Amino acid sequence: MKVLVLGHRLQYEVQNLVGLFFPGERVETAFEKQPDWQVLTYLREGRGATRLLVLCRLGEGGETLRAHCAVAPGEPGHKQRCEMAFGELLYRLFSQVTGYRPKWGVLTGVRPVKNIRRRLDGGMDEAGLRRLFCGEYRVSEQKFDLALQTARVQERALAPLPPAGPQDVSLYISIPFCPSRCLYCSFVSHSVEKTHKLVEPYLELLLQEISATFDLVERLGLRLRTAYIGGGTPTILTAGQMDRLLEHLFSLVKTPLEEFTVEAGRPDTIDREKLRAMRQYPVSRININPQTLNDAVLERIGRRHTAAQTVESFYQAREAGFANINMDLIAGLPGDSYEGFVSTLDRVVALDPENVTVHTLSVKRAADLKSTAMVRYAAADAPVERMVDYAAATLGAAGYDPYYLYRQKNTLANLENVGYAKPGSEGLYNIYMMEELHTILGCGAGSVTKLVGRGTRPIERSFNYKYPQEYIRQFATVLERKGSLEEFYGCLSEAEHPAV
Ligand SMILES: C[S@@+](CC[C@H](N)C(=O)[O-])C[C@H]1O[C@@H](n2cnc3c(N)ncnc32)[C@H](O)[C@@H]1O
Ligand code: SF4
Repeated sequence: MKVLVLGHRLQYEVQNLVGLFFPGERVETAFEKQPDWQVLTYLREGRGATRLLVLCRLGEGGETLRAHCAVAPGEPGHKQRCEMAFGELLYRLFSQVTGYRPKWGVLTGVRPVKNIRRRLDGGMDEAGLRRLFCGEYRVSEQKFDLALQTARVQERALAPLPPAGPQDVSLYISIPFCPSRCLYCSFVSHSVEKTHKLVEPYLELLLQEISATFDLVERLGLRLRTAYIGGGTPTILTAGQMDRLLEHLFSLVKTPLEEFTVEAGRPDTIDREKLRAMRQYPVSRININPQTLNDAVLERIGRRHTAAQTVESFYQAREAGFANINMDLIAGLPGDSYEGFVSTLDRVVALDPENVTVHTLSVKRAADLKSTAMVRYAAADAPVERMVDYAAATLGAAGYDPYYLYRQKNTLANLENVGYAKPGSEGLYNIYMMEELHTILGCGAGSVTKLVGRGTRPIERSFNYKYPQEYIRQFATVLERKGSLEEFYGCLSEAEHPAV
C-alpha cells in the first residue's frame, strides 16, 4: 500500500495503524506527492490549530474517502495528540472500508496496562479512563476491562513487597539454544543440531559476564529483586551445565530474591536429573510449555515432542517439588481449531498449574510462517477471538486472574498475550519487565539491558550481540558495554573510572 506522508514525520504510527487493518501488507511510504498513492496523510500547522487530513482511495477510479480534524497546538503532549488524531482518522476510514473494528481500537502500543497505570497514578478515575479508552481510543469495553483488571491485580500482587526504589534491578540470563526451531518462533535462538559445539564456550563466557554484572550491582549499590533464565530453552543445558550455571549465580546472590524463574520450556529437554539440579538451588518458578496439547498440531509446528511428554514433565516437576509452574499456550496455531484449543486449555486447567500464559499467534518477519497463508487475516472466521475469550472465561472461573498483558505486532486479530495466575503466584519478573518498573540487566546473547531511571528520565536500552557466535567472538566488547550501566547510575568516582 502506498501511503503519502506530507507535513509530518509520524510515518511509523501511520504504518502501525495500517498494520492493524491490513496485516502483512507492505507499506511503502512516500514523502512527496505521487500520483499513485492509496492513502494520504497530511498535517498543516494553522493559526490556532494543527490541521490533519486523511484521504483513502478505494481502487482505481473508485471513491475517495476523507476525514479531517484539528488538534490544539502547544506542548506538552502535542506530538502524542497528533499521533492519536491520525490514528482516529485512519481508524474511521479503514473500518468504513473493511467493516472491521480492532478490539484495541487505535492503540498500537505494546503496553496498554502501563498506559492505564500511568493515568491511575496521575489521579484519573475509572470513569474518566473508560471514557478515554472506550471513547477516544475506541478500545472495546471487554479489552478495557481486561487491561484495568490486570492493572488492579498487579497492584494487589506488588502490595506486600517493598516499594519500588531507584536502585532496584532484575536480572535476565539468556540461553539462546533450542533442540530444534519451532515453525512460528522468531526469538533469538539456535537449533543445537547445528550449533551444539557452541554451547560449552558460550556458557563459559556467560559465567564471566554474570560475574562482571554482579560486580557492578555491588559497586553501584543496586538491589537485585528477581532473576529469570530464559531463551531459547535453558534446559537444553545438561544437568551438569545447569548446576554450574546455578552454582555460579547463587554464589553471587547476596540477599534472598523475590523470585527466580527458569524457563524449562520444551518438554523434550526436561528430565528428573535436570529438575533435581534446579531444586538444589532456590529456583522458585519454572515454565513447562505445551503451546498446544494436540499432537498433530505439535508435529506441524515442529515441536518434536508429544502432549503426553508435556504432561509427564509437569508431573515430574511436581514430584521434584516445584510449587509454581507456568504453562505457555498459543491461540491460533496452524492446524488448530476452536475445539482443539478448548480441549488443550481444559486439560491444562485440570493439571492445575499456578500460571497459564495465553499468547496469540504472531506472524513475525523472521519466522518461517511468514511465507504461508497464515499471514492473511480473515476477520470474519478467525476462531482465535473465540479461543482467547474462552481462555479468559475458563481461567477466570478456575481462579486465575490476569496479571500481565502485552501486545505484539502481527498477531492474529490484533489480540494480546496475557499471563494468568492464581492469587499470590504472579510472575513478578514479568510484571517488573513488562510495566518497566525497574531496570532489567541482561546477560548473554540476544539479551537487552533496559535502564529505568527516576521520574521522567527516558528509558535507555543496550543490546547484547544477538547470536552466540558473535557473542563469543566479540566478548571483550560485551564486557566493555557494561560501562553504560556505570554512566547511567553515575555512582563511580573518577579514580575508579579513569578518563580514557
Ligand atoms: C521465548 S519463548 C521460549 C519458550 C520455550 N523455548 C518453549 O518453546 O517452550 C516464550 C514463549 O513465547 C511464545 N511465542 C513464541 N513465538 C510466538 C509467536 N510467534 N506467537 C505467539 N507466541 C509466541 C511461546 O508461547 C513461548 O513459550
Ligand atoms: S518456541 Fe521455544 S523451543 Fe521453539 S524455537 Fe522458540 S524458543 Fe525455541
